[in-house]
Amino acid sequence: MISKMKNLIFIGPPGAGKGTQAEMICKNYGIRQLSTGDILRSNVSKMSPLGISAKSFMDEGKLVPDDLIINMIKEEITKPEYSNGILFDGFPRTIPQAVALDNLMDEFGFKLVRVLLLEVPDAEIISRLSGRRSCRTCNRTFHILHNPPPDPKECDRGVCDIYQREDDKEETILKRLSVYHNQTSPLIEYYENKGKLAHINGLGTLEEVYKLIEKEIE
Ligand code: AP5
Repeated sequence: MISKMKNLIFIGPPGAGKGTQAEMICKNYGIRQLSTGDILRSNVSKMSPLGISAKSFMDEGKLVPDDLIINMIKEEITKPEYSNGILFDGFPRTIPQAVALDNLMDEFGFKLVRVLLLEVPDAEIISRLSGRRSCRTCNRTFHILHNPPPDPKECDRGVCDIYQREDDKEETILKRLSVYHNQTSPLIEYYENKGKLAHINGLGTLEEVYKLIEKEIE
């Protein structure tokens, strides 16, 4: 069981299932998901200064600059809702972000339990992301075939407002995959060298993948 102030990191290509699995992990372990993508999308919809700066990078499938992301994380992790532990989803995504997170963890006395690398081949990613639907109300993700949105649209957090993300168009998916291979995959060696990395086969049903994750964090 993960205890107070112990933290996990999810890395993996876009559409590997990080958000889907994060929801299940957080529910079962009482920790809180911190998705940089969700926070950025919420800033974009509010048209905050951060959202205005981030929007064009996100729409093109590029990474938002490190300094904006690191400042956002610094502000976010001091919030009381993260006091039982954090599941970082989509952060870090570059080596400078990983170094900044190491420093923040030292400063706040946070313990890193495991870095979960969700591995899914590119062809499967394209099929998952082109069928993905997201909810503006509860931030959950669905798939038109594998995990359909609720019908009727009520969920435990209100009425789902289902939409397709701008960056889930095929051309942008390919760009995001290339950004992942070039800019984010160096984190694999970074965390392997720290002895923290767990390789998780992300191909399988939601439950099969969850069981593999559970084995790594129990
Ligand atoms: P972000 O929102 O983090 O997007 P991402 O990493 O590209 O990840 P996704 O949310 O697209 O995928 P996921 O792995 O969570 O998959 P999901 O569970 O939904 O980032 C968006 C943008 O914000 C970035 O491009 C960048 O611009 C910016 N950004 C964010 N963080 C940043 C950072 N740290 N630095 C700089 N920029 C940053 O699953 C996908 C689909 O597959 C769903 O439809 C789901 O139902 C389905 N599915 C899931 N599991 C399975 C399964 N086992 N079998 C079949 N289908 C499945």
